[in-house]
Amino acid sequence: MTMTIPSATELDDQVDVILDDLPDVAAALHEMRARKPALWAKGFGQPALLLLTHELVSAAMKDEETFPSAEFYGNVVTDVLGRNLQCMFGEEHRLNRALVSPAFRQRLMPTLVPPLLEPIAHELIDRFVHTGRADLVADFTSRYPFIVITRLLGLPRTSEDDIKRWALGMLDIQNSHDNAMQCSHEFMAFVEPILQQRRTDPGDDLISTLATTEVEGQQLGDEEIFNFLRLLFPAGADTTYLGLGSTLHSLLTHPDQMAKVLADPDGMCRSASEEGVRLNPPTAWIPRINPRDVVWHDIPIPAGAPMFLGIMAANRDPAVYPDPDRFDVERRPTSVMTFGFGLHFCLGAALARAELDVALRVILERLPDLRLVDDPGVRITGTIHHLLRGPNRLPVTFTAPR
Ligand code: HEM
Repeated sequence: MTMTIPSATELDDQVDVILDDLPDVAAALHEMRARKPALWAKGFGQPALLLLTHELVSAAMKDEETFPSAEFYGNVVTDVLGRNLQCMFGEEHRLNRALVSPAFRQRLMPTLVPPLLEPIAHELIDRFVHTGRADLVADFTSRYPFIVITRLLGLPRTSEDDIKRWALGMLDIQNSHDNAMQCSHEFMAFVEPILQQRRTDPGDDLISTLATTEVEGQQLGDEEIFNFLRLLFPAGADTTYLGLGSTLHSLLTHPDQMAKVLADPDGMCRSASEEGVRLNPPTAWIPRINPRDVVWHDIPIPAGAPMFLGIMAANRDPAVYPDPDRFDVERRPTSVMTFGFGLHFCLGAALARAELDVALRVILERLPDLRLVDDPGVRITGTIHHLLRGPNRLPVTFTAPR
């Protein structure tokens, strides 16, 4: 007997977790999880199966056979972003991932801190420090990871504004497909001559590494490099910027926790940001589609059913994290789902963690008496609908240096 996706009237809940702007997302997730660990509701206006416990979310991410990442991404983003790692399965994914991985190894990260990350953080603060006020989203978090990736790739600094515009345009596929395609073409036309130049005369930048790395006698072709570069901005810049903003928001609204970090920034910034992105993961939901009818963990899942794996729901599962809604910079949470799990685990997790650590340290060192301006409109909310989440703004004041 073939399974069928429930109709709109047969759902467990009418909420649309991607389109609805819920006033208290955490409370809604707890309430739904308490009813059912896997629940039929809506996503992007369609019936969708939500996984809401840490156990189910981690098991689904690990189960690439049943829920191949390619099944969703391969259908949705390829015309704008090309066939990238997220659209690959099996041997093709293994080889492509091995070819791009060397530049993202954990042990390389300390070598990036003094020459790359710290100067960018200082440079951004230099632009506003004399005024005694800033919006940390507009003036810092939304800029920092774009500049990091641009400089890591060795792209010209004069083009940073264009690159940010193309990257944001490509991300906005759901709202404006034509603009996303236009941005994708412009970005590729810009990168093409740079890639050819690095192939013949490599430097110490990431494009040169991608152009010259060899694994098992194979190298990346031009198309594969373009596709990887187009993935880097949506995967690496938007996420990091939202995660940094959410961590700052938690610290600014919890003065007792901020005091602990200020007392020992070198020791505490890393664990504060890990806790910040546990509580408010930038990627709140990960989409998946299973290609075949399956009964999985006793849940009947019809072929083609849209699924959303609840990263935020898993990160706040009380079965794993006691008092899960409390922001506790000393928690040092393990097994967070923030960066995914399994074969598609975030390639840039070590870089993202280093970026968050450095940015927090530099911000708190330069602006130690940072205060959030009293503004009831400040909130952590959706950016691409509610798939991605972070603060809308962070207006702050601080003592300007004389
Ligand atoms: C706080 C920041 C970040 C978060 C929360 C994050 C989150 C994630 C998640 C959840 C996935 C898995 C997606 C899935 O399974 O469908 C992922 C994959 C990925 N991320 Fe990140 N990411 C962050 C930063 C970065 C950075 C800085 C880079 C690179 C510069 C990066 C590159 C990637 C790539 C290439 C993949 C695809 C890996 C694959 O399919 O094999 N991410 N990320």
